[in-house]
Amino acid sequence: MSDTSNNGRALVTDAWRAAPRIRFVPPRTAGSGELVVRVRAIAVNPIDRINGPARRIVLPWLRYPAVLGSDVAGEVVAVGPGGTRFAIGDRVLGHAAGAERSRNRPEEGAFQTHTVLLERVTALLPDTLSFEQAAVLPLALSTAAAALFEPEQLALRRPVADASALDDVVVVWGGSTSVGMNAIQLARAAGYGVLATSSPPNFTRLEQLGAEAVFDYRDRTTADHIAAQLRGRRLAGVLAIGRGSLSQAVHIARRASGSRRIASAYPTPPTRLRGSIERRRGIRISAIWGGTPIDSTVGPAIYTDFLPNALVNGQFVAAPPPLIIGAGLEAIPAALRRLGKGVSAQKIVISDI
Ligand SMILES: NC(=O)c1ccc[n+]([C@@H]2O[C@H](COP(=O)([O-])OP(=O)(O)OC[C@H]3O[C@@H](n4cnc5c(N)ncnc54)[C@H](OP(=O)(O)O)[C@@H]3O)[C@@H](O)[C@H]2O)c1
Repeated sequence: MSDTSNNGRALVTDAWRAAPRIRFVPPRTAGSGELVVRVRAIAVNPIDRINGPARRIVLPWLRYPAVLGSDVAGEVVAVGPGGTRFAIGDRVLGHAAGAERSRNRPEEGAFQTHTVLLERVTALLPDTLSFEQAAVLPLALSTAAAALFEPEQLALRRPVADASALDDVVVVWGGSTSVGMNAIQLARAAGYGVLATSSPPNFTRLEQLGAEAVFDYRDRTTADHIAAQLRGRRLAGVLAIGRGSLSQAVHIARRASGSRRIASAYPTPPTRLRGSIERRRGIRISAIWGGTPIDSTVGPAIYTDFLPNALVNGQFVAAPPPLIIGAGLEAIPAALRRLGKGVSAQKIVISDI
């Protein structure tokens, strides 16, 4: 397939119970506020592994045929009418929104050679960042941004180039996840102190990203240690990521002064159940949806106003590092199988799409 044409191939899922297949697809076109991007690298996420009936629960609105995937890095090959932020040839990363309720169209999925990205959740890449390094960011970045800044989540102050330091602290339980590493950096860039958890081999990495202290999430005393560390300071909120994190987050929020809000990356039904129990104790738990910034003001605040400069000046780095497991759309099934085995502070990426 020629690189310069806008004809392409996609990993298409024809029905909720069908196995995805690679097919030729019509040329993609850019509407107002959209770009067509020649995809060079993609990353895979836990949601991409969900199939069959479970996908009908997580993405009940999804229309078929569908092209899944959220994480794209590539080159702009067409700009929609009136678009001025990007030019043909620009290297970008973007949150592919094809499976989001508000978009819901295969033209916008990541798992294809040419995709349509929304300008509002696309950012210019510095030359120093490879497509593979950049592809780790979009869904994890959007999810972290949703958790920290959306009004119905922790509703924190947004990141800026030179935020004044606050005494308030964000706890990121699950700091070495992709979402966690983005959340640590965003919270720091907004001026908050950060306490995080991970396994011990990742402590130093999370401190380099801006955490003041990191604790082992497997240690039963960690929630007490974090609560002790918060004495005399104000809790800005807890981000709960990973199995068991919600109970630990509740334990911390009960003992801290300040905001008793918890943003949970847990599946929505158990989060809602726990939320209704804890509400009586004054703790507010909300379920994060990583696609929210696509439609809200948080998306452009991060992808347009913050990220491009922050990547250039080093205020924000692409983390975790990519684990490149193959090339081309053909590598997606193997990438999903590899993700199922678990990763530690790495993101599974496919190059040369
Ligand atoms: N709601 C949404 O819209 C949304 C969007 C994206 C992701 N998520 C969810 O958020 C979670 C993280 O996703 P991700 O892609 O960022 O994950 P990931 O990068 O694949 O996470 C891998 C990391 O998880 C850590 N971990 C494993 N078990 C843990 C536990 N019990 N507590 C804390 N950390 C643990 C490991 O840390 P160590 O190696 O240090 O042990 C490992 O580094 C997943 O559950 C995912 O489904 C939700």
